Amino acid sequence: MAQKKVLGLSFGRKNKNTDIMVKAALMECEKAGCDVQFIHVDDLDIKPCTGCISCVVGMTTGRGKGGCPIKDDLHILDEAIMECDALIAGSPTYVMSPTGRFKSVCDRLGPSHDITFRKARYEEGLAAGQPAEQLPDVRSFKKRVGALVSVGGAMTKNWLSFMLPTMYEITMSMGIDVIDMHEYYGAMACEHVVGNETEMERMRQTGRNIAAALVSETEEERTKWRGDTEGVCPVCHCSLLSVPQNRAADQVECPVCGITGSLVVKDGKIQAEFSEAQKKRSRLHWDGKLEHSTEIKTKAVGSGQIPDLKERLEPYINYLQ
Ligand SMILES: Cc1cc2nc3c(=O)[nH]c(=O)nc-3n(C[C@H](O)[C@H](O)[C@H](O)COP(=O)(O)O)c2cc1C
Repeated sequence: MAQKKVLGLSFGRKNKNTDIMVKAALMECEKAGCDVQFIHVDDLDIKPCTGCISCVVGMTTGRGKGGCPIKDDLHILDEAIMECDALIAGSPTYVMSPTGRFKSVCDRLGPSHDITFRKARYEEGLAAGQPAEQLPDVRSFKKRVGALVSVGGAMTKNWLSFMLPTMYEITMSMGIDVIDMHEYYGAMACEHVVGNETEMERMRQTGRNIAAALVSETEEERTKWRGDTEGVCPVCHCSLLSVPQNRAADQVECPVCGITGSLVVKDGKIQAEFSEAQKKRSRLHWDGKLEHSTEIKTKAVGSGQIPDLKERLEPYINYLQ
């Protein structure tokens, strides 16, 4: 069997907590026989998404392959991701969420790398006889597993509230199956994570979890949840729920998966129950992503729909200039 490739991405400071934690996991993967690569993402010049949407428009009109017109180092990250079989992504907490650069990377990889957009474009292009180099990278459809590592300085865990839910943004559009995640909080109470053996061992365990998933013989074993806690949502294993407006009495949503369930109290504990149909349409799965790409393809409108657009815009464009 070809050697499996594991990519570690750190969005932390050079050689500080997140870097070392991701590297500790990679070292275990290497011990298990994997080929490993590490990228300290702040070393790359990655610009924010400008919102031009040419990545998606290119794919839906049959002219593009999900590329981005911005000239910077994203291609380095893209190539490393396309090559890997597993991704370990670590980010520090900045104001309860991952760093700005983490979000910039997710924006640049989100719509452009969505497997439902890419697959449709790939299949339609092939059927039309277009050459492979004009179509989305075929490696986009490789099955991958992932682990998310959240690091926060605060001693109170809820100062990392949006970390793991938001970190799913880096795996979601590409359909990477997250099989483990870990949160290290209270990092400021220790000079450096290398002095915290519990955390270092937990990261070695992440490496072993990824390596084990990579050699699985069945799909069930490959995607098996290997994190410490089940969480409230059985799909993403996060514990963040939202309460929709105009809801049925017990209705809650998982904001990561975008699925609706019922709040129940079992054995004195608050839990959420989701039907099999809802679990299947989580945006972490193909069906949920397809729902979204289909609504964009069928309902988003192009230009020329508002005949007097220029006149309507004029007072605002000149206002406070
Ligand atoms: C701008 C900024 C905001 C931060 N906000 C939080 C926060 O909301 N919660 C938290 O737990 N830590 C917060 N921290 C602390 C970092 O998460 C902590 O220093 C972490 O160890 C950095 O990761 P690194 O050591 O891998 O660079 C913040 C740090 C910075 C620079």
